[in-house]
Amino acid sequence: MLKLPGLIDPHVHVREPGATHKEDWDTVTQAALAGGITAILAMPNTKPPIFDEATLNLALDAAKAKARCDYGQYIGAGPDNSDIAASLAPKAAGLKMYLDSTFGELRLDDMTLWTPHFEKFPKSAPMVMHSESRTMAAAILFSAIYDHPVHIAHVSLKEEILLIKAAKEKGIKVTCEVCPHHLFMTMPSPPSPLPEGEGRRGEGRTEVRPRLATQEDVDSLWTNLDVIDCFATDHAPHTLEEKDGENPPPGFPGLETILPLLITAVSEKRLSVDDIVQKMYINPRRIFQIPEQTETWVEVDENETYEIKASEQFTRCGWTPFEGWKVKGKVRKVFLRGNIVYEDGKILANAGYGRNIRHI
Ligand code: DOR
Ligand code: ZN
Repeated sequence: MLKLPGLIDPHVHVREPGATHKEDWDTVTQAALAGGITAILAMPNTKPPIFDEATLNLALDAAKAKARCDYGQYIGAGPDNSDIAASLAPKAAGLKMYLDSTFGELRLDDMTLWTPHFEKFPKSAPMVMHSESRTMAAAILFSAIYDHPVHIAHVSLKEEILLIKAAKEKGIKVTCEVCPHHLFMTMPSPPSPLPEGEGRRGEGRTEVRPRLATQEDVDSLWTNLDVIDCFATDHAPHTLEEKDGENPPPGFPGLETILPLLITAVSEKRLSVDDIVQKMYINPRRIFQIPEQTETWVEVDENETYEIKASEQFTRCGWTPFEGWKVKGKVRKVFLRGNIVYEDGKILANAGYGRNIRHI
């Protein structure tokens, strides 16, 4: 039996408030515990988006009542909320800036809208960028100019990981995360010749932002593992009906599959257990300033081989892009703050057991 610390996922879309038919604070934290994750940081692209004190409280009140693992809630960077966001920093997981195409309405296209956030958001608090390719380069330039650490979400491209490596070598305060789907999947082939939004019915299950990339991109992530600070799921649940419908929203669920996928990579000698501990516990704790969860650990049967099945998952969305994949590494027990909270397919923590990581 492998014993791991309680793992931290800094990138989760909870969907509450506003889209609880996809997921809510109860189901998402059950999925987290089943996946060996004892703390999640929730993204702000909810309905309404988390922009100010009232909307932050909406999310935090729901989390307080329902969460079964520990949590934090990001604030979204909007065109005119830089003062409010900065003042809420102590209550929030951090600030999330959407600089590229995403699900929801939080995108900040004009770079003049970035400046007040870089100037005002506390330097010690995490600032997370949804930024791809050249926008990512711009985010790193802002980090250097304003001397503000940034964390780049879901790195997927060779050009991105190489630029982050170069920026780190220059001493720029940039950290980054990579998601399992970008490590283990490539773009569907052949790529659809149809324009976006037309005739794409049926292809919705491969839609995710950033998109799945080429084998060369995937290889470069593996070659530059030491540049990757965190593994994060970008758990983005949408129902199967939505994914198979006319305008499929982008996003994959991932909380219950990240650990077995990584343990399988360990069994193939592509990764070490220490890499998992570094990138899912030590580094996210440091980057996101997460207090120690005492008497918290995960027991994993590293040799159990099984097939991933959506029907066995706790997420409400009802599907997984990894359906049928043979993996190694089954989470057997999870302990959180001295209590057993998960054992062999059963959630043992009550709704409301989870605590806000900013108040542990
Ligand atoms: O695939 C994605 N899904 N990318 C995003 O940026 C947002 C996310 C979502 O919220 O569904
Ligand atoms: Zn996301």
